[in-house]
This record gives sequence, C-alpha cells and structure tokens, in this order.
Amino acid sequence: MTADFFDTSDVLPAREIIAEGAMLLRRFARPIQHDLLDAIACLSAQAPFRRMFTPGGYRMSVAMTNCGSLGWITDRTGYRYDAIDPDSGRPWPEMPPIFRELAGQAAAQTGFAGFRPEACLVNRYEPGTRLSLHQDRDESNYDAPIVSVSLGLPAIFLWGGLKRADKTVRYRLEHGDVVVWGGPSRLVFHGIAPLADGEHALLGRQRINLTFRQAR
Ligand code: SIN
Ligand code: FE2
Repeated sequence: MTADFFDTSDVLPAREIIAEGAMLLRRFARPIQHDLLDAIACLSAQAPFRRMFTPGGYRMSVAMTNCGSLGWITDRTGYRYDAIDPDSGRPWPEMPPIFRELAGQAAAQTGFAGFRPEACLVNRYEPGTRLSLHQDRDESNYDAPIVSVSLGLPAIFLWGGLKRADKTVRYRLEHGDVVVWGGPSRLVFHGIAPLADGEHALLGRQRINLTFRQAR
C-alpha cells in the first residue's frame, strides 16, 4: 500500500476542519472497505462484540470489542485499558496491519505524524443505539490524537466543547469517513445521536466505528 492509495484529493476536499486540531476526511477509508470488513469479521470471531457495563451499573447500548495490544473496557470497577479480553481471558486479537496503516495515514494527513495506536476499540451500533457525550481520557497522556473511522449506516456525530454543557454541532458521518482530533481538540466532548434505522449495502442495519488510540 502506498501513501496515495488513500488520496481522495481529485474527488473531495482532503479535509474539512471541525475545530482547531479536529478534521474530517470524507470517504478516506472507502478504497479499503472490503479489507476492513473482512478484518472486522475475523477479529470479532475471536473477540465477540459484547455490551459492557458502566461503573454506574448501566449496560451500554453500543456493543464493543477491541484489537491491538491494549483494549478499552468498562465494568463496575471503572474504565481502563487492558491487554486481556475479560470475556475470554486471552489477549485481544492483533491489530491488522491495514488498520495501522489507515490510522497512521489519516493522522499524518491531518498534521499528526508518527501516530502508533496500541488500541483499536470497535463499536457496533444498531438502530436506536447511541453513545452519550464523553471525553476520551483514559489514555496516559493526550499528546496523540484520536482517529475514528465510520463504516455502515450513517450517524450523527455530536461535537461539543471542553465542558460537558457546551453547545454541540452535528456532523453526519457516512461509510468511509474518518475523523481525527488532537491538540487543542483532544479532550472535546463528543458522542453519537441515536442511530436512525436504515439498510447499508455492505453492513445491513448497523454502523461500525473503529476508534484508534495511543493509550500509553
Ligand atoms: C467513540 O467516541 O468512541 C465513538 C465515536 C463514533 O462512534 O463515531
Ligand atoms: Fe470517544
């Protein structure tokens, strides 16, 4: 795979600015959509999607799994990264090289060279499920950005500010879109509005999101 494999500059603007340090690369992941879906099928066969519990005792509507040397988990004791899948007692599946390449290239295109995520959280949304406003703050430092890849049904991404009560702006994220946020935007509150029903040509009635993070 070469750098210009992901180049969409002849069709679409290379990046749309959301805020300082936050950018949207529309359709960036589309050229490798089939490889991504194959890899997701393979990793979720080893570490199945599951609905985790929050420390407050609520069960999340979004189903999650991970790949990489660390995975993000939540249970009644808190949120954290762990090298072991608590459901199987085994390490999370390895991060597929194509995931690494995609995340690295998206980060590099938005000004964050050298992004090397250890963790890829895989979120599965079915119609009606949502992810409430939150900050990604379980990483040991906030120097690296977050790279987030959308696949399947479109979703409304809520982009807020550094305070939970700040007003949110809505972005429609479609299949293949990639959002990168770091620097002054690294701790911005964000979430996903309840997923509208629909049928995606490749994924059916679901949306899958890959969230790449450098956790330590
Ligand atoms: C997340 O914030 O972890 C996921 C965002 C998304 O699903 O696009
Ligand atoms: Fe997040």
